[in-house]
Amino acid sequence: MPVYKPGELVENQIINHLHNGDEMIIESYTLPHKEEDDICEVLRVCIDELEKEPIYDYLLYIVKELLTNAKKANSKRIYFSEKKLDISNPVDYQKGMRDFSRTIFEHADHYLQQHKEWGLTIRTSMQMVEDYFVIKIINNTQIMEGELKVAQEKLRRSKIFNSFEEASSLIFDSREGAGLGFIIIILMLKKIGLTREEFDIRSEQNKTVTEISIPLSLITEEQSQTINDLLSREIKDIPQFPENVILLQEKLQDPEVDLKEVSTLISRDPSLTAGILKLSNSAEFMLPKRVTSIIEAIKYIGIKGLRNLIYTYASQKILESRYNMEEMKKIWAHSYKVGFYAFYLAKKNLTSEDREDAFIGGLLHDLGKILIFAINPDIVKAINTICHTHGIPVRVIEEVTSGYNHSLIGAKLAEKWNFPEKLVTAIQYHHRPLSCDDKYKEYVFCIYMANILAQDELTSVEKYEMTENTILYYFSITSQEEYDSLQNELTSSYVEQKHHK
Ligand SMILES: [Fe+2]
Ligand SMILES: [Fe+2]
Repeated sequence: MPVYKPGELVENQIINHLHNGDEMIIESYTLPHKEEDDICEVLRVCIDELEKEPIYDYLLYIVKELLTNAKKANSKRIYFSEKKLDISNPVDYQKGMRDFSRTIFEHADHYLQQHKEWGLTIRTSMQMVEDYFVIKIINNTQIMEGELKVAQEKLRRSKIFNSFEEASSLIFDSREGAGLGFIIIILMLKKIGLTREEFDIRSEQNKTVTEISIPLSLITEEQSQTINDLLSREIKDIPQFPENVILLQEKLQDPEVDLKEVSTLISRDPSLTAGILKLSNSAEFMLPKRVTSIIEAIKYIGIKGLRNLIYTYASQKILESRYNMEEMKKIWAHSYKVGFYAFYLAKKNLTSEDREDAFIGGLLHDLGKILIFAINPDIVKAINTICHTHGIPVRVIEEVTSGYNHSLIGAKLAEKWNFPEKLVTAIQYHHRPLSCDDKYKEYVFCIYMANILAQDELTSVEKYEMTENTILYYFSITSQEEYDSLQNELTSSYVEQKHHK
């Protein structure tokens, strides 16, 4: 059975192996970011080939979490030996574990270097076995009996959790940070329709094996039911755009439209007029100067620009009159920044037509968040806390915690309001840009990237880590330094632009 290095297997080989039922083993010592991505790429090819795309995000998270655990387990053995502590002795174990995480974090390079010298490896195996796709993560240090017991106990306990609220209250109470990753894995498996029987941790001779078997017959919840009932009802209840706005939208679809007529139509509605002028001027980085009349605004932003601003104006107006919440201001402030960043990125990378669309895509990308927040503020707060403290991507946690997915919900609302397809796509895929239709890919990349870069609560290392590799390549970023320099460029032009007002 051949053992591959990360990045060695190409797509054709993967597909062949998959259909032949061969085991694909990929071996790494230190598992740097790049190699982890290479392994995840093999997973992606398999999942695509098996047409299980809807569960890819979950599996990706699970595999990454398990790989990190395996890496830690290998470091643990080195750490205990260097500290001259006996890992199998409970007193020594407790003593050692007190400083373990901090030490390996602070001396990461040293421990990773040692992995190779000790011959400690992490193997990822993927294989079709009859009607199951089996993923195994194997590290060649044996799990301690005590640890295995704890892990199995957690597995057993997690069986009783039905919701994330239950699980997390228990976990947070016991301050068992490490257990959280585990609970999330279990909840994710549940979410994609697997039971814990299909998830197994075991100790084999000098090895620890974690195994997940995914039946091909699996129909995921996401495939059958995508959106929570409560939110569907809410979307139904949200009013359509007012008639004059709908009329304007129709008229503005015609590139030959009579601009005088349009501006008269707009001026009949003073609040619409004021709203459009305010928005035009808040996006003045797209204009050579401040505008004071609708005619002047159209002159600079064009018909399409005007249409975009009307979408923004009407959405904001409806949501603001319906929900009165502090949080909305934060979401709009974030969205405005994302709009600016997306515009900036589009200006550098895309045709001019895409720039305005990038701005509006950024402005409206988190529409769904407002709805979710209005309906269940507690869950949003809980989601945010967990994402920040555990560095888990928002989309992943949202979907397991309660089935709310703000991208999807935002897209539903955008469809209801007849937003152009491109804008709906931006909203729907701003957290999973690789899955969107090819024709909008580059445009969505800008919004995805802008959204990550605009997250001030994350460190730049965290942001770099969470950005999809494909997209880093797209923006020609190959190192943390290049990432930071793009971030600085955006931050300073944003500040400068705000200053101008
Ligand atoms: Fe978002
Ligand atoms: Fe966002």
